[in-house]
Amino acid sequence: MGRSGAFGGSVVLWALLAAHVAMAFEPVSVGIAIGAVSLTGYLSYSDWYCRFTECCREDRPLNASALKLDLEEKLFGQHLATEVILKALTGFRNNKNPKKPLTLSLHGWAGTGKNFVSQIVAENLYPKGLKSNFVHLFVSTLHFPHEQKTKLYQDQLQKWIRGNVSACASSVFIFDEMDKLHPGIIDAIKPFLDYYEQVDGISYRKAIFIFLSNAGGDLITKTTLDFWRAGRKREEIQLKDLEPVLSVGVFNNKHSGLWHSGLIDKNLIDYFIPFLPLEYRHVKMCVRAEMRARGAAVDEDIVTRVADEMTFFPKDEKIFSDKGCKTVQSRLDFH
Ligand SMILES: Nc1ncnc2c1ncn2[C@@H]1O[C@H](COP(=O)(O)OP(=O)(O)OP(=O)(O)O)[C@@H](O)[C@H]1O
Ligand SMILES: [Mg+2]
Repeated sequence: MGRSGAFGGSVVLWALLAAHVAMAFEPVSVGIAIGAVSLTGYLSYSDWYCRFTECCREDRPLNASALKLDLEEKLFGQHLATEVILKALTGFRNNKNPKKPLTLSLHGWAGTGKNFVSQIVAENLYPKGLKSNFVHLFVSTLHFPHEQKTKLYQDQLQKWIRGNVSACASSVFIFDEMDKLHPGIIDAIKPFLDYYEQVDGISYRKAIFIFLSNAGGDLITKTTLDFWRAGRKREEIQLKDLEPVLSVGVFNNKHSGLWHSGLIDKNLIDYFIPFLPLEYRHVKMCVRAEMRARGAAVDEDIVTRVADEMTFFPKDEKIFSDKGCKTVQSRLDFH
């Protein structure tokens, strides 16, 4: 007991001494770092400061090749989304003087990668991704559940957007389940999306708004199925094959929430981004990716078993996964 007490005491003493030594050296190393910075001029004060704390850095250009690599390696079966997102983001971030904020509207079937892509985009803009102080995710059913509270939500949301954009002009706002969002709430964000130079002294032109919805997912699926039935490759599908379908089915459809919002009428959405339904081979790719992410070796038997457990449609051909890659993670837990 006595020995262990003495031993414990010496550990504490050693730790205290070590702390003193560290404190004694710390200012020196910091001084050296600052000296090196000012001598070389390679790192500005803000570069140096931003190594230790998260910074907004609205003028930092986007690393387009890193984003391209991320999308190509991680996002499966979405050649259109990859192409449009890359083009939209690099164009926007390289433009020193955008005339309006960037607004992207992501559409598609369940589990096809809309939230996943938002995460990749967020991480490429801010290293902390969705956890960044400059990235804000709203989920309609979670954050705006009660229709009778629409007025309150409108006020809160406008204050939130205003406050955050005045703190960081290149803030990112992601609205999930956009098709379930009350039109009144969409109305509340509309002024921020427009071509105004400033609204109450604040410019929103460097902000990014991303809207996610299932609206049009069935029509995108139908076109993808038509290509498959005609023996044409999925990668042959072009934006122009989907635009007319979406414009009739979603944007000019008076029953669609998006039509009611007037966002489309006023051309406030810069890019409509379709997500295609995922096939058996894509589900397998998702299983492999998940195994690698868990640090496990890829076992093809398990990959096949997990993919076989998913359900596919239409009834006869069974081509597209009902839930995309959505339940892959939980199914993998059983193997
Ligand atoms: N195209 C894809 N490529 C790679 N992984 C994907 C893809 N689609 C989905 N996944 C995987 O499945 C998970 C669920 O997908 P995600 O949440 O992005 O779907 P979603 O399109 O938002 O669906 P929902 O409309 O139902 O919300 C992702 O976290 C990702 O791991
Ligand atoms: Mg989603």
